[in-house]
Amino acid sequence: MDSQHYLSELFSLEGRIALVTGGSSGIGRGISEALARAGARVVIVARKEAELAATVEELSALGCRAARVSADLSTRTGVREAAEQAAGVFGEPDILVNCAGVNLRPPMSELSEEAWDSTMALNLDAPFLLGQRFGPAMAERGFGRIIHITSQQAHRAFVQSGAYGVSKGALESLARSQAEAWSPHGVTVNTLVPGFVMTPLNQRLSSDPDKVAALAARTLTGRNGLAADFAGAAVFLASTASAYVTGQSIHVDGGFSVH
Ligand SMILES: NC(=O)c1ccc[n+]([C@@H]2O[C@H](COP(=O)([O-])OP(=O)(O)OC[C@H]3O[C@@H](n4cnc5c(N)ncnc54)[C@H](OP(=O)(O)O)[C@@H]3O)[C@@H](O)[C@H]2O)c1
Repeated sequence: MDSQHYLSELFSLEGRIALVTGGSSGIGRGISEALARAGARVVIVARKEAELAATVEELSALGCRAARVSADLSTRTGVREAAEQAAGVFGEPDILVNCAGVNLRPPMSELSEEAWDSTMALNLDAPFLLGQRFGPAMAERGFGRIIHITSQQAHRAFVQSGAYGVSKGALESLARSQAEAWSPHGVTVNTLVPGFVMTPLNQRLSSDPDKVAALAARTLTGRNGLAADFAGAAVFLASTASAYVTGQSIHVDGGFSVH
């Protein structure tokens, strides 16, 4: 067997269908591209049409099959409608990536109920609802991959973690609950844990060169993360190669969490 054939058996996503929330920007965009280039048909869900269209166009130009659904995942109705629309494009997903997230960062004493609720709605409720919609069917078909994107703030407080850290900690617990339920039926559920990645989400921090340099120094690799750094881990977790990896939190952070 040649090495290309061996690598395809392990990692190819040919024939798979993926749904990536937040796939129009930053880490989600990097993951969408990786899954699509590995062979999956990818449906991207986010709100802004222009960014969605640009991402789909970029992926199509690479020869990939991609589509978009514009939806607000911070309401339960929005999640339900998005799920049906997304499943209507290529079919029921084999791979679900929950990457859409919000980080509001008010000081703890000023954290309002509204900020708490909207954080939980997008960062935790949407992944739960999408899991309930697609997880049981994946289990019935005997194959599925659910990948949640959490944060180092699931593990420690960092720059006003507030509701955000709580939502990400709970998301890692959700991954374990889902893994317990569905892994006996071929569905693995894991989380990728970024460190500091230069994306629109953390524009305020990433526009301060001193802070950017200080954060890079806290890694073991000496630099901050890029969306492309998630490609290999995402393809691995989406592929058959990761069949015996489930319920895990995998840090893709240049060693930030162990330094
Ligand atoms: N960047 C970092 O350093 C870092 C570190 C740790 C964890 N993370 C996590 O990684 C994930 C991606 O972050 P990122 O830095 O790549 O952020 P980003 O570039 O701001 O992308 C966020 C994505 O989520 C979508 N989104 C936001 N609100 C939404 C809503 N209500 N409904 C549907 N889609 C929505 C955005 O599209 P629209 O605005 O068009 O809806 C966009 O596609 C998040 O879960 C974040 O918590 C990031």
